[in-house]
Amino acid sequence: MGNYIIDSTHLNFFKSVLGEHFVFTDSETIEANAHDETEDLKYFPDVVLKPGNTEEVSKILSYCNEHKIPVTTRGGGTGLSGAALPVYGGVVLAMSRFNRIVEIDENNLQATVEPGVITQVFQEAVIEKGLFYPPDPSSRGTCFIGGNLAHCSGGPRAVKYGVTRDYVLDLEVVLASGHIIRTGAKVLKNSTGYNLTQLFVGSEGTLGVITKVVFKLLPFPRLNKVLLAPFKSPEKACAAVSAIFRAGIIPSALEFMERDAIDWTLKFRHDIHLQIGPDEMAHLLIEVDGNDEDTILKDIEKIVPVLESFKCMDIHFAESEAQKADLWKLRRSVAEAVKSNSTYKEEDTVVPRAELPVLLSGVKEIGKKYGFSSVCYGHAGDGNLHVNIIKGNLTEEQWKIDVTKGIREIFELVVNLGGTLSGEHGIGLVQQPYMDIKFPEIQLELMRKIKFAFDPEGILNPGKIFNVPQ
Ligand code: LAC
Ligand code: ZN
Repeated sequence: MGNYIIDSTHLNFFKSVLGEHFVFTDSETIEANAHDETEDLKYFPDVVLKPGNTEEVSKILSYCNEHKIPVTTRGGGTGLSGAALPVYGGVVLAMSRFNRIVEIDENNLQATVEPGVITQVFQEAVIEKGLFYPPDPSSRGTCFIGGNLAHCSGGPRAVKYGVTRDYVLDLEVVLASGHIIRTGAKVLKNSTGYNLTQLFVGSEGTLGVITKVVFKLLPFPRLNKVLLAPFKSPEKACAAVSAIFRAGIIPSALEFMERDAIDWTLKFRHDIHLQIGPDEMAHLLIEVDGNDEDTILKDIEKIVPVLESFKCMDIHFAESEAQKADLWKLRRSVAEAVKSNSTYKEEDTVVPRAELPVLLSGVKEIGKKYGFSSVCYGHAGDGNLHVNIIKGNLTEEQWKIDVTKGIREIFELVVNLGGTLSGEHGIGLVQQPYMDIKFPEIQLELMRKIKFAFDPEGILNPGKIFNVPQ
């Protein structure tokens, strides 16, 4: 990549396909599309295109393929691995006009959606029909379904209901060549050749551009209870997690937050009313859902003694919908609060859940060794710990060299524990230096060959997941 120049001929072609109003080269739009939520990284596209339908995407891709122009597809811009950053410039294909919920099929419990629909908008639309689309990343108020597909997003409810990929039945995808394919079907069982649907999910815009998705849905669980359990010891809180499942309960959320995560969030959001005692060093936020009050209460009655056996302190039970909303607001605001506090690097570690205490203490040990502090929180029920490494007063050299060594050690620990580099944020730009920890060269080569089969000119989100030889 890098040998192209976007000149007036290219711009005129884009305008002829999309119309003048959807081809942007003004500095404000370029700047707005130069970053996502990853650290403080910025890469400027040459032009931002906002296509309105699949045929337009097809024409643009076929043209860019012919002229070897990089195309980085963009959703809501909330990503945390830098996957939406146009590192080689070129075109940003902003999918915001693909914002239609095409169909909610109540007979089959399915929905057809375009990728520019905001996740929460989709969730609320299906709830109105008594249906449930569970994946709920913290950014659900602004992230797009397309970005969720690109990264296989999860969120708190994944622990009981699974992640984005578990709901995808079929995709409409535009290939780099401009050809339009359907990968699956509107069926719950499909044993028909290679599963390209699941290959596209999590492929971070490197294999094609998703223009439509068919999801399966569930009936909406009407009731839930939420509690916040404080612990003196973060490791004990983590150890309680797997014991809850061993007691036969699958909560609809089981989240972990270190003390700093809560303190920073309460400082950041003054609209959350919560008293945290001086000895409370970590918390588990637990939700149990269903349709029968008694069953939910019985589950809670089984959870409480497990928490107590790990020396939890006074449990705070949310008494009202407002209190539940407060607790969830707290949890969902942690990422933003950490970002507003300091430059940081976010590692989306994931291990088998029973290994969580070992991971947490390992992260702290590695931090001590390399001189950095971290704020940890995440989806403990999934063994998915977001490790936020704080820049604070570190020098540029420490930040670049020592922290990089430390992250490498963290990922080595993760892989030794049977885990992997990312649970839900993807590899994108910032995690690719660590891919060799998880995959031997032969496996990376296999992935590069898959990439080449779909995108021989290397125009689709170049420079992401692994280095593609240019
Ligand atoms: C969260 C996002 C950062 O769990 O994944 O809040
Ligand atoms: Zn998360």
